[in-house]
Amino acid sequence: MSWLSEYYGYINLLAIAGAAATVVISAFVVAIYFKNIKSAKKSGELSADSWDGIKEYKNPLPLGWAVSFLVLCIWAIWYMFAPAGLPFAYPLGAYSQIGEYNEEVAAHNSKFAAQWQNADEATLVSMGTSVFFAQCAPCHGLDKSGISGKAADLTTWGTEAAAVNSVVQGSKGMNYPLGEMAPMLGGLVEDEATVKLAAAYLIKYISGTQDPSNADEKEYNAWLICASCHGEDGAGMDAAAPNLRNYGKSAFITEVLNRGKDGYIGSMPSFDDGRLTDIQKQAVSAYVLSDEQ
Ligand code: HEC
Ligand code: HEC
Repeated sequence: MSWLSEYYGYINLLAIAGAAATVVISAFVVAIYFKNIKSAKKSGELSADSWDGIKEYKNPLPLGWAVSFLVLCIWAIWYMFAPAGLPFAYPLGAYSQIGEYNEEVAAHNSKFAAQWQNADEATLVSMGTSVFFAQCAPCHGLDKSGISGKAADLTTWGTEAAAVNSVVQGSKGMNYPLGEMAPMLGGLVEDEATVKLAAAYLIKYISGTQDPSNADEKEYNAWLICASCHGEDGAGMDAAAPNLRNYGKSAFITEVLNRGKDGYIGSMPSFDDGRLTDIQKQAVSAYVLSDEQ
């Protein structure tokens, strides 16, 4: 048999032996039952249940079965959790090629993060340019303009006009607890003029830094419609809706990249699957917000 173990390795040999034993034991047990069916007169206590006249004996569970069931339960737990190297344990901690690859990627990413953690704006923008061309340009176009309406036009994103557009067309797919923002808020606002007033308040006092005590009353009242979901301060009411204090800023773009977005004009995948590191998300956001094209 040594040629067999050399060829297959002892794990395979063990499995083959196990399979063979299972076949032999099964055949043996089945044969015994067949013999019993033919010959034996049954005795013993019948259970009260009857299925169309068919009754069942109250046989106790054979001790061997009970013991092997318990032993297998214990082994199952041991197999999964015992440290690698102990007998009958799954070699969880042992070498694997995927593990080595993951470790190398993690090491590289932390080196990358350490190297660029204090990158200045110009460095981020130039790093973001290459990320954008590789990851975003296929949908948003080389000039960020969204390829004639196939994806969001990022040259105007974050402006008052873009906010108006988001309310008029609606916005969905970022998976906030409040769900989607229906077009024209599903009837909460009647006309685009009101949306414009609200968006003006948003850009000046919520995402902007102007002092809201100077706000025009009409703009403030229009904003109150938005406040029912975004909060009066625009911070999104504990993440029930997007935090509009970040609207037009890098933090908002990073949030969109992490969540993904189903637009009315198509879908954008979430980039939160390891495709981009945090620094790269920051960099591509800086590029989107820059005048660079
Ligand atoms: C019924 C709740 C609700 C109201 C009212 C509401 N929003 Fe929203 N808003 C949301 C939700 C939820 C999202 C995130 C939608 C998504 O998943 O894309 C959102 C997203 C946004 C965005 C970012 C999305 C994008 O496409 O850039 C802007 C800007 C915005 N709202 C502005 C406003 C303004 C301005 C008003 C008032 C005129 C307003 N919202 C009223 C719930 C609301
Ligand atoms: C598969 C196509 C696709 C790719 C790739 C893609 N996007 Fe998008 N993106 C979209 C679509 C479609 C929308 C607009 C959805 C809508 O109708 O509001 C969008 C919307 C956006 C928005 C606006 C979100 C808002 O709040 O309105 C930003 C910012 C954005 N993308 C940035 C990026 C960046 C940065 C990348 C690269 C890392 C990227 N996208 C890659 C398709 C894509």
